[in-house]
Amino acid sequence: MKRVLVLNGPNLNLVGKREPELYGFMTLSGIEDACVKEGAALGMAVECRQSNHEGELVEWVQKAKGGVDAIILNAGAYSHTSIALLDALRFFGGMVIEVHLSNIFAREAYRHHSVVSEAARGVISGLGWRGYVYAIRFLAEETL
Ligand code: DQA
Repeated sequence: MKRVLVLNGPNLNLVGKREPELYGFMTLSGIEDACVKEGAALGMAVECRQSNHEGELVEWVQKAKGGVDAIILNAGAYSHTSIALLDALRFFGGMVIEVHLSNIFAREAYRHHSVVSEAARGVISGLGWRGYVYAIRFLAEETL
């Protein structure tokens, strides 16, 4: 059975309440439920975690090595800054799909570049909560 870790970074605990015109009305627990259900329907074990702390995210990525086949990551604002997270993803070495609720390329210039993308197989940006579900479908089809 494929094991997938869905990691959400800072401020994503506020999704649903935070700038809904950008991020939508679905809460984080709604997004996580959708991921777990989609994974179960496709025969995959999906675990979801969120942290506002860069170091905690780094530790989760480190510990995922060997125990998890793929990480779906929305690192929030750390996507644009965290070389520490990029280094941890490189150590993880497994499949990484980067997800953003909003289209980061249609927003402020400082959001156009994601440093973690270098470790990602692909990026889904701007499709709202369904982006996570599409990432799970991709992982179900792909050899991991
Ligand atoms: C985000 C985009 C980031 O630029 C922002 O800092 C977030 C959320 C997204 O899902 O669209 O916190 O990752």
